Amino acid sequence: MPPACCFRSPAPELTRAAAAALAGVVGETCVLLLAGPLGAGKTVFVQGLAEGLGVAPGSVTSPTFAIATLHPLSGGRTLAHVDLYRIESELELEATGFPDLLAEGKVVAVEWGDRFPAALGPDRLELRLERTGDATVRRLEACATGPVSASVLLRWCEALREVAGLEWEQAS
Ligand SMILES: Nc1ncnc2c1ncn2[C@@H]1O[C@H](COP(=O)(O)OP(=O)(O)OP(=O)(O)O)[C@@H](O)[C@H]1O
Ligand SMILES: [Mg+2]
Repeated sequence: MPPACCFRSPAPELTRAAAAALAGVVGETCVLLLAGPLGAGKTVFVQGLAEGLGVAPGSVTSPTFAIATLHPLSGGRTLAHVDLYRIESELELEATGFPDLLAEGKVVAVEWGDRFPAALGPDRLELRLERTGDATVRRLEACATGPVSASVLLRWCEALREVAGLEWEQAS
């Protein structure tokens, strides 16, 4: 069975903290597929990831209209924040230059990435966010689809144990 982990985040700050923990272990290159309905917390998660990677707070907004926003990081790395909500086909996605983003030295976080998962390459850290009955609680389920993402996921799950306030579930 592929590695997976599953938890509830009871507040946006904790979703940010969980994402910042991912920043600490993500390495040079990683593709993060973010799935979940409108308002699930995908952008909040990327904000936490970006801050954890040293991007100035407040500079991450939804890139819906630009498709991708690039944030240079220290050490020559880049965080690419992508939103596929408005992309209608793989052809259109290709025309945006998206495939060129999947390069070495980039952490690529893709909101609505589940619309075109194959276009993200075979090795993805997939994160699904869901609303719950409680307005401030989100359920997050992560799984890995290849060796790079599996190793990031294992390290992230370890790091998440240090984030007080998350509620753990068994992955379904
Ligand atoms: N536990 C939580 N984690 C994350 N966000 C939360 C949580 N509880 C409430 N929220 C709120 O939910 C909203 C999530 O908005 P966000 O823009 O991140 O969603 P999104 O998934 O990116 O939506 P879209 O598909 O429109 O891009 C924010 O207003 C945030 O404050
Ligand atoms: Mg968003």
